[in-house]
Amino acid sequence: MEQKKVAKLDLGNGEQLIELPILSGSMGPDVIDIRKLHATSGMFTYDPGFLSTASSSSEITFIDGDKGILLYRGYPIEQLAEHCDFMEVCYLLMKGELPTNDQRDKFVKSINEHSMVHEQLIRFYAGFRRDAHPMAVTVGVVGALSAFYHEALDVSDASHRDLSAIHLIAKLPNITAMAYKYNRGHPFNYPCNHLSYAANFMHMMFAVPAEEYKPNPVLARALDRILILHADHEQNASTSTVRLAGSSGANPFACISAGIACLWGPAHGGANEACLNMLEEIGDESRIGKYIDRAKDSNDSFRLVGFGHRVYKNFDPRAKLMRETCHEVLNELGLQDDPLFKLAMKLEKIALEDEYFISRKLYPNVDFYSGIVQRALGIPSSMFTAIFATARTVGWVAQWSEMIADPAQKIGRPRQLYTGVTTRKVLPISERK
Ligand code: SDX
Repeated sequence: MEQKKVAKLDLGNGEQLIELPILSGSMGPDVIDIRKLHATSGMFTYDPGFLSTASSSSEITFIDGDKGILLYRGYPIEQLAEHCDFMEVCYLLMKGELPTNDQRDKFVKSINEHSMVHEQLIRFYAGFRRDAHPMAVTVGVVGALSAFYHEALDVSDASHRDLSAIHLIAKLPNITAMAYKYNRGHPFNYPCNHLSYAANFMHMMFAVPAEEYKPNPVLARALDRILILHADHEQNASTSTVRLAGSSGANPFACISAGIACLWGPAHGGANEACLNMLEEIGDESRIGKYIDRAKDSNDSFRLVGFGHRVYKNFDPRAKLMRETCHEVLNELGLQDDPLFKLAMKLEKIALEDEYFISRKLYPNVDFYSGIVQRALGIPSSMFTAIFATARTVGWVAQWSEMIADPAQKIGRPRQLYTGVTTRKVLPISERK
């Protein structure tokens, strides 16, 4: 961070202007450093939803919403999706550089050593109803991991942070796949470490004892790409949740469980499931106009799920890559004429030509196509956000660890604009009217 200029703030009270440093990062907008504003002015800034607020500095992910740019540690997402696998991207997000072959092998070995879960953790699942949503199960089971891993919970110790990160990245596919198998009434599958991370995930979800199961390599590659596209995304709602929870020194498993809970919301990671449900509800191209009108009606709470983004005011680069993956998977499966995919492309075309969406810069986001490709992979819509959580776990732990390692890190404690009743006297109940 470099201070180049100073912002001068006139509070309109005739007093001296307040000078606030303007800080520059390596890319993107400068920031006005307001850390001393309250001490010098007695005032707070006001920014519900953090539309204009940088909550932290970070070296991990960069987004340019106007240009549709997404970089992980400086590498464009398009190049990572083409040339790397999810394990390489995990290494990159955690350590800052892409691995050599030897470094990648060592990293994959460390993940594989922790891919199983404690046998007693498996007994947790029996306590849930069979129809429990996989995200409800995942929030609970991930939060409970701290009951099993006492030996690496000193968050101030970098080796403990690294081990917790490995535990989480390694176990999330197993935990979420078991939530799916429990829904289905199928026996759980142990991980097969000779498979790739994505193929192992498919094995744990789809293998059954009665049949031999061999993950289709094209489909496994598609799932691997989905994991890459969802791995990290700057200070989105769930990452901000993880950072805020972690700022109190809470253990990483509890913090990631909080992030999973936040991601589940339909305005955030729950949008992929909601988007597929929306497409199924629309059902036919002839009904698209009715739903576009509803989305534009300010008196109707309906929103075109999979459209719009707080940061991307241009195409979400992940949406383009997800659409390509959709084509690949549907072609591999002979589903080129998949009606839902055709409906989605028609809906996208109509929306992108409509003034309402154009004026508000509402483009398809990562969730618009991800549901269709996951459905084609045989993944039920109830698992879409669990897959998103599995992918985002590496981003969450990387951001969490970066925050904890920052010597200037403080507990997150926002203030407020109080608009409630002013001070008043308590009357004994006998005197209240
Ligand atoms: C993710 O932050 C991240 O990085 C998140 C994420 C990640 O990787 O972590 O990218 C993942 O969460 C993607 C977003 C998935 N959510 C959805 O697809 C749900 C539908 N989208 C919207 O709910 C909305 O676009 C948000 C929540 C994504 C963004 O909301 P903002 O930035 O707060 O924008 P807004 O709600 O203030 O909307 C601005 C205007 C409003 O209209 P006006 O009041 O100006 O008339 O655009 C309208 C909104 O009504 N609008 C929509 C719309 N999204 C915004 N109108 C219809 N359909 C939509 N989808």
